[in-house]
Amino acid sequence: MNEITNMDALMAAVPEKGFLDAPIDPRLDLVEEIKRLKEEKKAVLLAHYYQESEIQDIADYIGDSLGLAEAAAKTDAEIIVFAGVHFMAETAKILNPNKKVLLPDLNAGCSLSDSCPPDVFAEFKKRHPEHIVITYINCSAGMKALSDIICTSSNAQQIVESLPADQKIIFAPDKNLGGYINRVSGRNMLLWDGACMVHEIFSLEKITRLKEQHPEAKLIAHPECEEPLLKISDFIGSTSQLLKYVVTDPADTFIVATEAGILHQMQKAAPNKTLIAAPPENNCACNDCPYMKLNTLEKLYLCLKYETPEINMEESLRLAAKKPIDKMLELSKQFGLI
Ligand code: 13P
Ligand code: SF4
Repeated sequence: MNEITNMDALMAAVPEKGFLDAPIDPRLDLVEEIKRLKEEKKAVLLAHYYQESEIQDIADYIGDSLGLAEAAAKTDAEIIVFAGVHFMAETAKILNPNKKVLLPDLNAGCSLSDSCPPDVFAEFKKRHPEHIVITYINCSAGMKALSDIICTSSNAQQIVESLPADQKIIFAPDKNLGGYINRVSGRNMLLWDGACMVHEIFSLEKITRLKEQHPEAKLIAHPECEEPLLKISDFIGSTSQLLKYVVTDPADTFIVATEAGILHQMQKAAPNKTLIAAPPENNCACNDCPYMKLNTLEKLYLCLKYETPEINMEESLRLAAKKPIDKMLELSKQFGLI
């Protein structure tokens, strides 16, 4: 097979494989190549805090789910390369139908999103016609299309509290975030039984021991963690709120209960502070999200160079999914969050 035919075959395999598995010249400086391609193609690289450090370091924007949705809504780039997971790239496409949205590996899914299939949820929703549906952004476009308002961990509490106290609400798909919002807001939202595999893996026992060894340390946690862990935490917040807390709080040591990728930005923003990743149940690196970590510099380079894999969807689905995202962005502006 000559080189061109071989490349055609590799491109044709992308939909099944989920990424372009093509050879890369080992002499290339991938960081420099990605920077050059971004400029040449007028592309913007958006990265979540849970990405590998080397990807975070070359991103044009690094943020949490709310920040990334806002950045995607505002960009005037021609191509958006999303270093994150599928629902994030999908959200960018929903907001930018005329832009090319690329995700280095389509297999970068999300256990939380997978825990809520739209067809099953639609049946559940039918049984509760008097409820409105607030859905965490970690869900598929199909789920967004069934929702009234989307939220992220940065704005969930304010969005819920902006509704009348007697409004019946279904909160999906994260039972941990939903349960946390119920407790702080005094609401009684009906919760979908979904969870994030990364935030449920932390060991309460090991963390309690760690707190005893470091009595001066503050325990900070993402609201996707389970209730017993949240109960012993000194601060609970979204990824960007945790980052801000580490920078502004006077404590010197923090035990961080969320995906380990955020430690990179925390250490950069607060170089003199000691950060301890909260230990998971097993001895593996389970607080690394296996989906987020599917993106690599190599896949990012190939994705930008050959402009594949691309995110696309039916226009009717896009329009239905856009409404609750627009509502979230509008409310977040009103609350001064973006
Ligand atoms: P935030 O980006 O809202 O902190 O959510 C974390 C997360 O799990 C993203 O997948
Ligand atoms: Fe999904 Fe959890 Fe990974 Fe975030 S960290 S993408 S919620 S599995």
